[in-house]
Amino acid sequence: MKNKVRLGVNIDHAATLRQVRGATTPYPNMLEMVKLAKAGGAKQITIHLREDRRHIQDYDVISLCKKASLEINLEMGATEEMTKIALKNKPTWVCMVPEKRAELTTEGGLNVLKGFKTLESITHRLAKAKIKVSMFIEPSIAQVEASALCGAHAVEFHTGSWVLLKGAKKKAEYKRLVEAAIEANRLGLRVHVGHGLDYAHAKMIKSLPHLVEANIGHSLICYSLTDGLKTSVQKMVKALN
Ligand code: PXP
Repeated sequence: MKNKVRLGVNIDHAATLRQVRGATTPYPNMLEMVKLAKAGGAKQITIHLREDRRHIQDYDVISLCKKASLEINLEMGATEEMTKIALKNKPTWVCMVPEKRAELTTEGGLNVLKGFKTLESITHRLAKAKIKVSMFIEPSIAQVEASALCGAHAVEFHTGSWVLLKGAKKKAEYKRLVEAAIEANRLGLRVHVGHGLDYAHAKMIKSLPHLVEANIGHSLICYSLTDGLKTSVQKMVKALN
C-alpha cells in the first residue's frame, strides 16, 4: 500500500488578513492556526517570508520556529538576508523559491541550473546546520538533476500550471509530473508538490509516484472562512445579546 501523503498547511494568507489592518489586531493568531491545523491532521506548517513582508513577518518566523508544535517549512528566496534568518531560526525545512516583488504569488519554479552556484552554496550552509532543503521547481528532468547536484534533500514540484491547464495539455503536464517524480526518487530526492491545490485535485495528486508531501494554503484558508463563518457569527450574536 502507498504511504500516506504528509500535508503541510501554508498559513501565509492568514497572515495576509492580519496585515491588511496593519497587524493592529491580535487575530488571526499564527500559533492558534498551527494548533488547529495540527488538530486537523497537518504534519507541517509552511510559511513564506517574502522580501516585501506582505504576509509573514520576521516575528512570526521567530515565534513559529520556537513554539510551534509542528515542523516548520520556511519558503525563501536565495538571498543572504534569508539565509541568515533561516540559520538563526532553524526551521526543519527550507524550501527555496523564486521571488519577484510584483508577483501575486510564486509564479513558476526556480531555475536551479541558472542559479546553481548560489543555490549550491546556500544548500550546503543550511545542510551543515541540519536544515533540510527542498527546491521548488517545474517538473523538468533537468531541474531535478540540478537540484540533486546542489545537494537538496527534496524537490517540490510546482503544480500551479497543471491545476490551470485543460484537456490534452493537462494530461501532458501530469505526465511530466510523473516522469520528474520517478527521476527525483531515482536520485534519492523526496518528492513534494504544491501550489494551487484544492480538494478536487487530491485524487490525481496522491497517485503521483513516490509522493511524500503536499503543501497547500490558499484553498484551505478560503474554505476555513466558509466553514467557520457560521460559528464566528453565532459567537458574536451571543456576545451582543
Ligand atoms: N508551495 C510553495 C513553494 C508556494 O510558494 C506556495 C504558495 O505560497 C504553496 C506551496 C502553496 O500554494 P497555495 O497557496 O496555492 O496552496
